Amino acid sequence: MHLGIVGSGNVAQILARGFAAHGHTVKLGTRESAKLADFAKANPSITIGSFKDAASFGEVVVLAVKGLVASTVLEAIGSDALAGKVVLDPTNPIADVPPVNGIINYFTGPNESLMERLQKQMPGARFVKAFNSVGGGLMVNPKLPAKPTMFICGNDEAAKKVVAGLCEQLGWGTEDVGKVEGARAIEPLCMLWCAPGFQRNDWAHAFHVLR
Ligand SMILES: NC(=O)c1ccc[n+]([C@@H]2O[C@H](COP(=O)([O-])OP(=O)(O)OC[C@H]3O[C@@H](n4cnc5c(N)ncnc54)[C@H](OP(=O)(O)O)[C@@H]3O)[C@@H](O)[C@H]2O)c1
Repeated sequence: MHLGIVGSGNVAQILARGFAAHGHTVKLGTRESAKLADFAKANPSITIGSFKDAASFGEVVVLAVKGLVASTVLEAIGSDALAGKVVLDPTNPIADVPPVNGIINYFTGPNESLMERLQKQMPGARFVKAFNSVGGGLMVNPKLPAKPTMFICGNDEAAKKVVAGLCEQLGWGTEDVGKVEGARAIEPLCMLWCAPGFQRNDWAHAFHVLR
């Protein structure tokens, strides 16, 4: 598949390399391609462009940007480049303040979510939440005692199937939490995932649902 990764940080680079290693054709988008010179050299099969270039390129678009600017970035990309596309959304609505005793602060409230805002902003795109509640270091084929669970949600069943397939390739089982409102439950899992990290520098874990 053609994957357009909007973003150039940890998550963008890790997922870009991971998807490329599994045979996908990847373009990464940034405001400043010069800063990715080393990445481009080390990963010659991954092309670099603007946010809009990456979004236009992708059959699946990964929105790997800071939660606070996600809406602004979508506005800059425009609805045409995202029309009908699967948008894999790993963003978290992290506020610009430090964690309180290891618990990060969100700029959203309990009965809403960032993905609902983004889906409303871009009704023609098919958003699926995924990869928001695990650290970048464990996103791609993590070595853990059991297959970890990726919680996903979104309004479009076919889009969720595509994302579930991508999760499977990267070594994850999926748990479907329903429509876009499922993000109200999934986004806070990042707070929970980060707590042992900020409290005792323990970042080597992932969620796994038992039945
Ligand atoms: N880091 C993790 O382990 C992790 C794990 C799970 C989920 N997440 C979530 O995944 C997303 C990406 O996280 P990250 O740690 O890789 O990177 P990040 O530092 O949260 O975001 C970096 C990206 O945001 C863009 N950006 C920052 N400020 C901007 C602005 N004012 N206008 C436009 N774009 C701006 C940057 O653009 P340029 O490329 O132009 O610099 C860059 O592509 C976040 O929402 C985060 O909460 C992160």
